[in-house]
Amino acid sequence: SRYRIAVVVGSLRRNSFNRRFAHALARLAPPEFSFEQIKIGDLPLYNQDDDDDPADQVKRLKADITAADGLLFVTPEYNRSVPGVLKNALDHASRPYGESVWKDKPAGVVGVSVGAIGTAVAQQHLRNSLAYLDVPTLGQPEVFLKADGLFDDDGNIGEGRRAFLQDWMDRFVAWVERHAGGAKRESR
Ligand code: FNR
Repeated sequence: SRYRIAVVVGSLRRNSFNRRFAHALARLAPPEFSFEQIKIGDLPLYNQDDDDDPADQVKRLKADITAADGLLFVTPEYNRSVPGVLKNALDHASRPYGESVWKDKPAGVVGVSVGAIGTAVAQQHLRNSLAYLDVPTLGQPEVFLKADGLFDDDGNIGEGRRAFLQDWMDRFVAWVERHAGGAKRESR
């Protein structure tokens, strides 16, 4: 693939709607895009004392992000914010100071909830951190979805949301193509 997308899912739950959503969404992408979920569930809790001697899982996380041309965040909302596991991963890969691997990686942010406002607040909190981390993040269309009725029997995006999410994917693809140069240059 010409473009490798690192997928960061904010839920560790076995039957996570957000992980299912990440898989279904990836199927709407063109063949030159590949999507791989990066592992964040085994990271230690971030502790600044360990900056000089990071755990292997942290080195792996930073390598996975460095190798990516773009980022896709697919997250639930926990108590009107970003789940701790996702924030922990953001913090790990942003350090030591001056050695963040997030910078200039084009990103998309989406999420699925069982609740009425479908992760809108969590996504705003995440966008705050991504702006600080110098991550160019697709603004529109915003994707706040309820899990109920989202998927068809094969785990694909169902009829109801198919056109909307295909449009989202087309814009995400264009966004990555437009911004990926910066991240590629940086990683050389
Ligand atoms: C939730 N849930 C939730 N939903 C929401 O829309 N806004 C919220 O603030 C919260 N808060 C919250 C806190 C905690 C600790 C849990 C476990 C859950 C419900 C959430 O949308 C639901 O559990 C989803 O199924 C979580 O996504 P995954 O795990 O299915 O991807």
